[in-house]
Amino acid sequence: MCGKKLMAPKVNSLDELIQEVHAAFEGDTVDVDYVEDLMTNYRSNPADWKKFAKFDRYRYTRNLVDEGNGKFNLMLLCWGEGQSSSVHDHSNSHCFMKILDGKLIETRYDWPENTQLSQEVDNSDVTEMQLKDRTILETEGVCYINDSLGLHRVENPSHTDPAVSLHLYCPPYDQCHMFDERTGRKTSCKITFWSRYGEKCRNV
Ligand code: SIN
Repeated sequence: MCGKKLMAPKVNSLDELIQEVHAAFEGDTVDVDYVEDLMTNYRSNPADWKKFAKFDRYRYTRNLVDEGNGKFNLMLLCWGEGQSSSVHDHSNSHCFMKILDGKLIETRYDWPENTQLSQEVDNSDVTEMQLKDRTILETEGVCYINDSLGLHRVENPSHTDPAVSLHLYCPPYDQCHMFDERTGRKTSCKITFWSRYGEKCRNV
């Protein structure tokens, strides 16, 4: 049988999007185009997501919206003016991202040649990471990455406006690697939430 492209339905609210992504992840395979289309079909409405949008003046925040029956995590990331992530991988997961408000820049890098952990690398064995691509993501824009496509860093370039993005990671993960752009050295890092279901976590 030849593969027919599945059309993603219209999505009228964040709740409907959550229902549709639950259905999309019921099986064992992930249809990347379909999930991207679902996220594109949702038009950002702050009334849907503002209860999850929590900012911190020092760093971007990760705010859990839905645990996807253990199959995925859906979360809002809130980026204050000038805030950015480090260069990181995605622990062999799929990462979908939609801009709900403001603008973000995604910078992609090739994997460094030497992917040993920082403490295992000899000082002579360091090379600056190779920039691959730089994309400005406007409100409503959707993008997708996984480890086979490289590494990335996400930043809010604005000095006056915050930004909010919706991220879906499948399968969910709580550990990834951060990379030093100047040397390619990596360190393991634990991933935490700033809030869960609109409530601030006690550890932050
Ligand atoms: C993060 O999840 O903390 C960073 C943004 C991303 O890669 O999606």
